[in-house]
Amino acid sequence: MIPQSFLQDLLNRVDIVEVVGRYVQLKKGGANFMGLCPFHNEKSPSFTVSPTKQFYHCFGCGAHGSAISFLMEHAGLGFVEAVEELARNVGLDVPREAPMPGAPAPAAQRAQTLGLVDVMTRACDYYRKQLRGAPVAIEYLKRRGLTGEIAAHFGLGYAPDGWQNLEAAFENYRDDQLLDAGLVIESEKGEAGSTKRRYDRFRDRIMFPIRNTKGQVIAFGGRVLDKGEPKYLNSPETPLFSKGSELYGLFEARIGIRDAGYVLVVEGYMDVVALAQLGFPQAVATLGTACTPMHVQKLLRQTETVVFSFDGDAAGRRAARRALEACLPHADDNRSFKFLFLPSEHDPDSYVREHGAQAFADEVSRAMPMSQFLIGEVTAGKEMHQPEGRARALFEAKPLLQQMPANALRGQIIHALAERVGSSVNEVAELCELHIGAARRQNAWDKAPAKREKRRVVGTEHRALQNLLMFPALGNELTEEETKILREMGHHGEIFSEVLTLCREMGAEADFRYMSDRLKISPNWASFDDIIREILSFEENARDLMLFDPEDEAQVERREEQIALRLTELRSAIRRLHYDRLCEALETIFKRASLTSDELRHAQALSRERDELKRWLASAGTGGTRS
Ligand code: UTP
Ligand code: MN
Repeated sequence: MIPQSFLQDLLNRVDIVEVVGRYVQLKKGGANFMGLCPFHNEKSPSFTVSPTKQFYHCFGCGAHGSAISFLMEHAGLGFVEAVEELARNVGLDVPREAPMPGAPAPAAQRAQTLGLVDVMTRACDYYRKQLRGAPVAIEYLKRRGLTGEIAAHFGLGYAPDGWQNLEAAFENYRDDQLLDAGLVIESEKGEAGSTKRRYDRFRDRIMFPIRNTKGQVIAFGGRVLDKGEPKYLNSPETPLFSKGSELYGLFEARIGIRDAGYVLVVEGYMDVVALAQLGFPQAVATLGTACTPMHVQKLLRQTETVVFSFDGDAAGRRAARRALEACLPHADDNRSFKFLFLPSEHDPDSYVREHGAQAFADEVSRAMPMSQFLIGEVTAGKEMHQPEGRARALFEAKPLLQQMPANALRGQIIHALAERVGSSVNEVAELCELHIGAARRQNAWDKAPAKREKRRVVGTEHRALQNLLMFPALGNELTEEETKILREMGHHGEIFSEVLTLCREMGAEADFRYMSDRLKISPNWASFDDIIREILSFEENARDLMLFDPEDEAQVERREEQIALRLTELRSAIRRLHYDRLCEALETIFKRASLTSDELRHAQALSRERDELKRWLASAGTGGTRS
């Protein structure tokens, strides 16, 4: 049994585009990647892979799933094999645990993580101590205008020159944990049979510890003192650290962000440290990578306003474009994303030092709102006075608008765009396949709309099954009696049994993504497949289900609300189903000509139970009971 928390972690770390890309030639088409579907024969691509949703979907044959199911279905791996394969790719060990409902993450995995945090903390202390005894390094930091106070606040250190300095910091330099934490490198060359040569990753560098939001050191960035390549060396991906989701300085900036009411996202380590010293403690940096939706999600836990700062050159513009795409799926009406472009010869550090804090603060307050940047992006370089240019702008706007939740902001952008291209709002919406108004639930990823639409009328059993698949945690809330009713449900009993057993195996952390992956190996997959497709295309919370992040308090709260709501719904469905079954049983009994006294007593008991249920159902307003 692989713990759910691990699967969640794994799916958050692997990049589905990369996994699928190994088997299918993918081309970027707007926000998604497209290719020829590997699950059916086709000549033009209808297979899409979404990096933001970490999900694939074929519009031709309806194949869909996560990276795990892709490996199962396409590469023919078993569930465990697929998980192991993906874990290997991102450097994780697959933990195992006994199938105990609600069990927390396995002790071994937690111990490993704790062990690595310990190792990183010790290395951090060591590097800091070394800085005190390294005048050259101190001199360098001073030359860059940093005070000792700010260096201490960020825990800056120094890795001395030399190959095995960490031997002094650790009792056992050959401990595997040093390798797992990315502090040492092992040479491949060691002779057969001999132990491999091991050496420190960071040598003669200024060390910037990267902390998670709990303040634990999970990685380092190391800068050369003067010239040298690479300028910054970062920790590799480890069980503690994944650069696609971590931000430098977020722990140190928490209070600054709260006080300022926004977070400032910059590109460099030095920018963060320098800005903090010069009056902008609300800055964080991505770690030499483009901004990802995961970064944005993390930032939105701290504040609703995100200001990105980029260089004014082409590279900065490209980085801004990536950031824009990372923000679109999160662009709710209560949030605000802004883009600041500095003169191309400057980064925030050099800008503030040359023009002063006030000038920089003015730049921040004048930062470009996301809507303006988006419209600028799609119209830039087009001959907007020609029909072709305007059509091209619309063409480029389509994938961006499709990424947005269907809200007021999107409506406003459509308006502005319609004006620019001289079309009507409806025309723009139609061309971009946005389905404003009545057909809005075409977009399965939309957040719950403000005004709920009427739910599709579906059979009681069907709805019960849907609820269990979406929120497998429900399965464990039911009483023995209730599960029994489901398991004994006519032709669907087997299906319910299977789902309920999986719910139990998964325990408290049960989750839709894991459930839908597991069901792929079920003999009843065909039945489940239909329901899962319906959930993905019609459920208002499909987006939450697919992107669930257990660290996001707002999401956890929404999920709990949903579970409570659905539990009530499920319970009344079960009573309703039970009622129907009692009616059928009674009909059969009374059709018989004569009854023994035992049979009669049994029938009376059933009949009492039925009447009780009928009263309950009537008072619960579920209506339509048979009599
Ligand atoms: P820059 O080259 O713009 O450096 O890289 P910087 O932050 O302004 O640093 P200083 O002012 O020269 O000290 C921006 C960011 O890109 C990543 C780092 O995260 C860096 O902060 N980077 C850059 C690397 O990871 N490796 C490199 O070799 C260079
Ligand atoms: Mn710089």
